[in-house]
Amino acid sequence: MSDIIPTSIEKHDHILILDFGSQVTQLIARRVRESGVYCEIWPFNQATDERIQAYNPKGIILSGGPCSVTDKDAPSAPDSVFTMGVPVFGICYGQQTMVKQLGGEVEGGHSGEFGRAFVETVDDSDILEGSWKKGASEQVWMSHGDRVTKLPEGFKIIGKSEGAPFAMIEDTARHFYAVQFHPEVVHTLDGRELLRNFTHNVCGCAGDWTMASFKEEEIARIRAKVGDKKVICGLSGGVDSSVTAVLLHEAIGDQLTCIYVDTGMMRAGESEQVVTLFREHYNIPLIHEDASDLFLGQLEGVTDPETKRKTIGRLFIEVFDDCAKRVGDAAFLAQGTLYPDVIESVSFTGGPSVTIKSHHNVGGLPEKMNLKLVEPLRELFKDEVRDLGRALGMPEDFIGRHPFPGPGLAIRMPGEITREKLEILRKADTVYLDEIRNAGLYDDIWQAFAVLLPVRTVGVMGDARTYDYVCALRAVTSTDGMTADYYPFDHSFLGRVSTRIINEVKGINRVTYDITSKPPGTIEWE
Ligand code: XMP
Repeated sequence: MSDIIPTSIEKHDHILILDFGSQVTQLIARRVRESGVYCEIWPFNQATDERIQAYNPKGIILSGGPCSVTDKDAPSAPDSVFTMGVPVFGICYGQQTMVKQLGGEVEGGHSGEFGRAFVETVDDSDILEGSWKKGASEQVWMSHGDRVTKLPEGFKIIGKSEGAPFAMIEDTARHFYAVQFHPEVVHTLDGRELLRNFTHNVCGCAGDWTMASFKEEEIARIRAKVGDKKVICGLSGGVDSSVTAVLLHEAIGDQLTCIYVDTGMMRAGESEQVVTLFREHYNIPLIHEDASDLFLGQLEGVTDPETKRKTIGRLFIEVFDDCAKRVGDAAFLAQGTLYPDVIESVSFTGGPSVTIKSHHNVGGLPEKMNLKLVEPLRELFKDEVRDLGRALGMPEDFIGRHPFPGPGLAIRMPGEITREKLEILRKADTVYLDEIRNAGLYDDIWQAFAVLLPVRTVGVMGDARTYDYVCALRAVTSTDGMTADYYPFDHSFLGRVSTRIINEVKGINRVTYDITSKPPGTIEWE
């Protein structure tokens, strides 16, 4: 776990979430933060009694998880969670371990409940205030095999479901609450209210953690850290590095120099937009390095996706390093690292997971550069970064942009990369995104782009035979890019885009739509 003390815990009430390995633990954090309360996720096995006490949370939430408390060596919460006198909220596995650790009983082998279920409220509770009334039946989202069968001393039932007679329980004297369902997912209607009641009413959090306060506090912190030294920041044109740069600039002005490396594989107009926004609008010193000849030269004939990615990563570092030397005596490197990149997840399998793709972004910069890091976004989720961008007055069309990968169009072009094909792809991508914006769908989609396939097919235009490339369109919904669903466009929309691309983009005579979700597909094609 990082020993960096986040800005937010020094100034604001905060909640600790102990992670037992649930797929949706991050959603707990997002719900808590949406209500203006700072929180952090720690893996249960790294949270020692001393660490928790030093962190001094106003309350603790125990997440769900894949284990059974009936297993030998089942994960448990450190004792201090239940003895330090702060309110505790257990969710699913968190409920089960709370019950077991406090002397109740949990049994496995029941039929379980998965997906939508209904909970009947049998009593009033502080966590239900203003939302669920006694006697009501409310929709929740369940995912459990085990269930509580005997309550620990001091607890009473406040809700039950068909498969879980102890679906909601509480010990009002000690301020312990626990639910069998998942209040953090949207399918539990009013789930966020339950969590809010816990953090605000029960724990007494002020709810004053906002992006406006974060901005001011982080600026002060950057100034204290950097002093009068120089900072360099790699810009990719994406949201994270852009917000990092603007925040840094607000904090330290001209001590910041941004470096934008044009790999020759950017989208249409991308480089101009970055240069206009940063150099002209914000007046930030910017090195705009056109390295397209170098990148495209070294990629000539390369078709293997991993070789492409590794070549681009290596060249990027070389070029960046070279630009950094021109800035002179920079002491710090600013990076747009986000909270999901620094959360350590609970691993029950031990070994490292397989590499699906070698990621490259401006974050993966040379360790040997001997620069200290400034990572002002490392406490934030992506949507919070967007809010911070708004608090900094950045233009909405920049903040709301879809993610764009570090290797750029290279990984949207299976097979060899050529200037001619890049030009074709840029045009198709522009038409596609233009139509998405016209249809008002841009903000509903996590990411949309065109892919140029290395196959040619036969077509007929006018009375002539054509033999041109195939373009695949991709659009997905997602919350974090880890999983994704393909976007269900209307057929009429797809037809319109296809017609426009074939009419307007010379070199493409066939358009397909990718209907693969992730998993099993990935979002990018390479
Ligand atoms: P995949 O293709 O792995 O992508 O499903 C998940 C998300 O990550 C983005 N992506 C990258 N971003 N450098 C980046 O900065 C990379 O090398 C990279 N590869 C994929 C992708 O666009 C999607 O949002």
